Amino acid sequence: MADEPINLFEYERAALARLAPMARDYYASGALDEITLRENRAAYDRIALRYHVLADVGVRDTSTPILGRVHPWPVVIAPTAFMRLADPDGEVAVARAAHAEGVTQTISALSTASLEEIAAAVPEGSRWFQLYVFRDRELTRDLVRRAEAAGCTAIELTADTPVLGRRERDARNAFALPPGLSMPNLARLGEGIRAPGTAPGSDSILLQFFAAQVDPALSWRDLDWLCSITSLPVLVKGVVRGDDAARAIEAGAAGVVVSNHGGRQLDTAIATIDALPEVAAAVDGRGAVLVDGGVRRGTDILKAIALGAQAVQIGRPVLWALAVGGEAGVRRMLAILREDFDRAMALAGTPDLASITPDLIVQR
Ligand code: GLV
Repeated sequence: MADEPINLFEYERAALARLAPMARDYYASGALDEITLRENRAAYDRIALRYHVLADVGVRDTSTPILGRVHPWPVVIAPTAFMRLADPDGEVAVARAAHAEGVTQTISALSTASLEEIAAAVPEGSRWFQLYVFRDRELTRDLVRRAEAAGCTAIELTADTPVLGRRERDARNAFALPPGLSMPNLARLGEGIRAPGTAPGSDSILLQFFAAQVDPALSWRDLDWLCSITSLPVLVKGVVRGDDAARAIEAGAAGVVVSNHGGRQLDTAIATIDALPEVAAAVDGRGAVLVDGGVRRGTDILKAIALGAQAVQIGRPVLWALAVGGEAGVRRMLAILREDFDRAMALAGTPDLASITPDLIVQR
């Protein structure tokens, strides 16, 4: 169809025009002045590629091993909350699309479909689970057990959210989930974020929910604890420094996700692609390294691999495609990105991921 999006930016534009304002702002916003949100993207555009020629790219292999499983191409779906704000089938539609395109889905603790519902709908799907550590450690432990039972093969511990970053668009909208949507993974906590604000213009209900339920005292000791209660590999998400990455690996993590939560936490935080080389050097092959934030083009994936990642995670593009076309939209968006990455590999003279090396990169 002539008006179908042909790249991820077009999915974003189409989705922004279609979504209800509260959902649109929740998905789109970053913290405060949204400087990190913009920087995540801009930092990719500052990188130039020194490509090879005459490199025989007639046969290309886009596969990458992550946590012992070969992924057909180096993209994982990042955890993003409340997908049913975009589409009635929400996380289930994304699970189907991800499975069809050979992509692992990271299910958010704040999903609007339960772990069990997603697993029952797509039993063969490859999935990880994103975890917040709640003040209630029994709830946290129970979530890990449920993720294991639902066939998740890794836990992504979000480490950058001792408190929720202030997203001023959500504050202005007094963000809350609309009637009919809930957080079934957290049913034990009641209907915490469906209730109206406690005072007029008080803020996003999610911000209040985090203040009440998520443990701001989380520390390296809790990573030890988490690793001790599960046999699944644990990835620490939200790392932007080499010293923290090394500490995560030494505490038993199977890897790290270089992330600043899509610019939604500490504003003016370093762009993730700029943080990646130091983190990759500190991990030094001892664990997996993924990066998220601002990935929209195949060349972005190429840059991330060159700078030391095994794979990237994509968050908002999934929401935009889901809002535009449901399951089919997500499939199509993933297929576009996959083709774009394969073409970038060919044009860069890099037939496989091992040939995507740091010497391809020039910082402008
Ligand atoms: C939740 O994790 C959010 O970033 O809104």
